[in-house]
Amino acid sequence: MKYTVPRGTRDLLPEQAEVFRHMEVTAAELARIYGYHELRTPMFEHSELFERGVGESTDIVEKEMYTFSDRGERSLTLRPEGTAPVVRAVVEHKLYNGPMPLKLFYWGPMFRYERPQAGRYRQFWQFGIEMFGAEGPRADVEVIALGWRWFQQLGIETELVMNSIGCPECRAQYRQVLIEYLRKQELCANCVGRIDRNPLRVLDCKHKECQRRLEQAPLISEHLCQPCADHFQAVQTGLDQLEISYRLDGRLVRGLDYYNRTTFEYKTKELGAQDALGGGGRYDGLVELLGGPTVPAVGFALGVDRIELLCSASAGAETPRSGLFLVATGETTKKADQWLYSLREQGVAVQADLLERSFKAQFKQADRNNCRYALIFGPDELARGEAEVRDLETGKQTAVALEKLTEHILALEGVK
Ligand code: HAM
Repeated sequence: MKYTVPRGTRDLLPEQAEVFRHMEVTAAELARIYGYHELRTPMFEHSELFERGVGESTDIVEKEMYTFSDRGERSLTLRPEGTAPVVRAVVEHKLYNGPMPLKLFYWGPMFRYERPQAGRYRQFWQFGIEMFGAEGPRADVEVIALGWRWFQQLGIETELVMNSIGCPECRAQYRQVLIEYLRKQELCANCVGRIDRNPLRVLDCKHKECQRRLEQAPLISEHLCQPCADHFQAVQTGLDQLEISYRLDGRLVRGLDYYNRTTFEYKTKELGAQDALGGGGRYDGLVELLGGPTVPAVGFALGVDRIELLCSASAGAETPRSGLFLVATGETTKKADQWLYSLREQGVAVQADLLERSFKAQFKQADRNNCRYALIFGPDELARGEAEVRDLETGKQTAVALEKLTEHILALEGVK
């Protein structure tokens, strides 16, 4: 048997893992600057949480969940997204009783049984933020701006697309208009099944024929009530002030049921069909739906894997040399090992030969490992109470007295 990763999953090899790590560090730092705190929820939850939270007639719940019974015959689901779990935690721990707004972020793997292709996996990572307790448009602007800023920091070009899908009141009216229109169209079986249950979802159908027939469908953005229209206008004005550009798209409905008012996606042209780098919106009713009080909320989740594909494609630049390689042989190895561990304790990144290689081979290794310096413990140098430090970038070599060595190394650039 030849073992491979399960379909739709992937190993992050060291180079990719490094990009991931960089992305995670910048995300957490950006979240901190904007005043968000991390929340970690379990990788699986009770299935009902997603059925209720994400919506019974969404693609996620209908076809994409990894659901299983555990030995106690509970139905559990690997989380397909992070919002419902965050809301569950907020309600379970009554976090809404603390200072408002409550601002949370998360980073972690999500699971969806989708047909794998470039940028679409069955296990993928999301960076998400969720803000609770602020219903005004400035909250929407802050959330959208944070995502925008992250893309800027990563050097990724993205197009922000926005829509408003109104509130339950204006949506109820629009729903009737839409149902009437949809009944007159020839649509796929999946769409027909959804017309009465969840007509907005029909607009999201990926079938080319359906898409063509839905071109003339009435749009929610044309049926907003005044408060919803005002809210959306204020979000746009806020983004204008920050000079964040966006495109309005009345057809952007998003694939999850909990949204109201502002919805948005960050799109790219670089990844073919998988054009959404992230998405989010307002979900003022979800906390209540999942058993909490009425608490307005807004948030997003960004697709880390898709963003990593773009980062890696645009990287190309050579990573600068860093750290030290300790070169020693035979009788000097023992002494050198003491330095190896004591320098590491000081936070210096030091590697050393573990395969009893020759001097020459060790220099080669230092070079292959992209080390900035070689720290050379030769028998003659040691006899003089010295070691040599060679800058592998410039080739310059300096003899340093052992009692000055730590100080000398700590003052070097690029050793930590
Ligand atoms: P979503 O649009 O389902 O929203 O997912 C957000 C992002 O996750 C997508 O735009 C995409 O970049 C990435 N993504 C989704 N599925 C896959 C996949 N199979 N492979 C790779 N990347 C994928 C949500 O999940 C909402 N919880 C967002 C949200 C947070 N709304 C409010 N707060």
